[in-house]
Formats: sequence, structure tokens, C-alpha cells
Amino acid sequence: MKRIGILTSGGDAPGMNAAIRAVVRKAVFEGAEVVGVRHGYAGLISGEFQPLSISSVGDIIHRGGTILQTARSPEFMKPEGQQQAITNLSDQGIEGLIVVGGDGSFRGAQALARAGIKAIGLPGTIDNDIAGTESTIGFDTAVNTAVEAIDRIRDTATSHERAFVLEVMGRDAGFIALAAGLAGGAESILIPEVQTTMDEVCERLVRGRDRGKRHSLIVVAEGFAPGMQVGEEVRRRTGYDTRVTILGHIQRGGSPTALDRNIASQMGARAVDLLLQDQANLMVGVAGGRTVDVPLDEVVGRKKAVDRATYQLALTLSI
Ligand code: ADP
Ligand code: F6P
Repeated sequence: MKRIGILTSGGDAPGMNAAIRAVVRKAVFEGAEVVGVRHGYAGLISGEFQPLSISSVGDIIHRGGTILQTARSPEFMKPEGQQQAITNLSDQGIEGLIVVGGDGSFRGAQALARAGIKAIGLPGTIDNDIAGTESTIGFDTAVNTAVEAIDRIRDTATSHERAFVLEVMGRDAGFIALAAGLAGGAESILIPEVQTTMDEVCERLVRGRDRGKRHSLIVVAEGFAPGMQVGEEVRRRTGYDTRVTILGHIQRGGSPTALDRNIASQMGARAVDLLLQDQANLMVGVAGGRTVDVPLDEVVGRKKAVDRATYQLALTLSI
């Protein structure tokens, strides 16, 4: 294989640029060429191809976002869109495609694989909700951003003796909320994977106050309930002076952490190795500090479980 394509798709995530850089540099090192596809699957259909050289990926390892831009493409969900994409790939002489994205993007890669395109997926989403990998590109950065927000909120919450609700991202998953909540010492962590009643939440808050806590902090994943709704309930039930912060897309941007840069670099290089060995229809994940190759069919649509012991620990430590 001499010509590899790469695209970023779905929600962007810090570290995607490090993955693009790794793919280009490793491929060139091995004597192959890389073509970037702009705007994800939308660009694959409209033919937005851009050759990537060693220098075109210089000075991006530390940047959030994606130099290739990303998109959601309803057109690519249809057979006609996919057929156009396949024609364009063939016209460009692209023999293998690396897709950096989440579960939806991997479904797109599977559709291409069914049509005979060699595709490799790299998990790129802040949500960390991809099976077969301990971490996704962007997750660690998003968690650190959320922890910084918690630390800041804690200062003002303590000064005013207020209760705070911090809503973090996670459409269907509580990985960011759990990791940030544990690291930030939140009193309660509300995630879609664990059923929690507002009675329990408020009892914990009142217990903490009775023991002399001067602030209360609840981290809620957007997939559990809207932060405003949780804040309203806390105010109504406890009477505490309550404020709500919605962190939103602040979590999606910013310079990637060393961990995200490193896993993105490892995954990108491994994806090139696999394509050059004519292996495909795999996702490259990480486990125990090393890359792992997992069939895309074993990843797509599979729900990754949150670690219950970690959830329990967070509750235990914040009594
Ligand atoms: P993410 O990759 O972050 O989960 P999305 O779910 O929005 O993001 O998916 C990104 C894109 O992947 C979609 O806009 C669409 O183009 C493509 N895609 C998603 N699901 C499918 C599918 N079942 N078949 C083909 N393409 C899909
Ligand atoms: O999937 C990543 C994610 O950041 C989710 O956590 C969030 O719900 C969603 O994307 C937001 O998507 P958009 O940028 O389209 O609003």
C-alpha cells in the first residue's frame, strides 16, 4: 500500500491533530503517501482531498481541534453518498483509509469496509464511550479541563457557602463526569449508567453540611439530566443557595494533555503499520500503555461499562 487517506469525523477532540501528524510522519518514514480528507465523510463525497507532507503537519501536535476540520454528514448515511465516496477514493488512488472519530464514524468506516475499502478506526471523542480501548483521544484533556473548572468553582462555592451543580459533556456516557468528579472531590456524581434519586443526592448534601462542609458540589453528565433541572431540585429540596455551571464546548477545545498526544501518536503510527501490512477493518485502541488492535465489528454499537468500583470510591471519599 502506497497511498493512505485520513479523515476526522463527528465531534472534534483534542489530540486529533497529534494523530494526523503521527499518521503522516510514520507513513512518510515507511515510504508511503498520505492524503487528508477535509470535513470528514462530507469531504469524502464532495472530493475535498489535500496531500499532507511532513511539514504540513508541523506545529500542530499541541493544538486542539483538527486541521482537517470535521463534520457530520447525513448524505454519507445513504448508499448513493457512500458510492460517491468510494468512487472518489478510487480516483485518488487511496488504498486504505484511517478514520478518527467516535461510534458513528466507525459505522461509516464499516460501511466502506463492506464495500471493500481497507479502513482503520482511531477512537477520537472526549466522551471515552468506545468499547475496546481504555481511553479515547481527547478524553484526558476534557477531564483535566473539567477538573480545573471544579477547582475554580470550589473556591467561590466555599466563600459563599453555596451548592454548585456542574454539568459536563457525555451525551450517553458518564466517563468525564466520573473521572472529573473523583479528581475534583465532588459530593455527588450523576451519570446515566447509575440510577440515583434526588433524595439520595440531597441527603448527602445535607449530611455534609451538618458535618460542617462549607460547600457542596454535584457533577452531572448531560446524559443524566440537564444541570439546570438538577440545580432547581437541589434548591427546592434543601433551600441551599445553589448555582449551576454548564461547561459545554470548553471541554472540546484546548491544547491536548501529554497523555492524549501520546496515545494519539501511538495509535496513528500503529494504524499506518496495519495498513502497510494489508490489515484492516480494525480499531486501534490502548490498554495498559500499549496499542491494541480490535475488530471494528466488536467495537461498533457495543456499550462500554463505567467502572462501578471507581464510582463507589468517589462516593466513599466524599462523605
Ligand atoms: P461520532 O463519530 O462522534 O459518534 P456521529 O455519530 O455524528 O459522530 O457520526 C459521524 C458521522 O459518521 C455521521 O455524520 C455520518 O456521516 C457517519 N455515520 C454515522 N452512522 C453511520 C452509519 N450507520 N452508516 C454510515 N455512516 C454513518
Ligand atoms: O460526542 C462528543 C460530544 O461532545 C458529546 O459529549 C456532546 O453531547 C456532543 O458531542 C455535542 O455535539 P455538538 O458539538 O454537535 O453540539
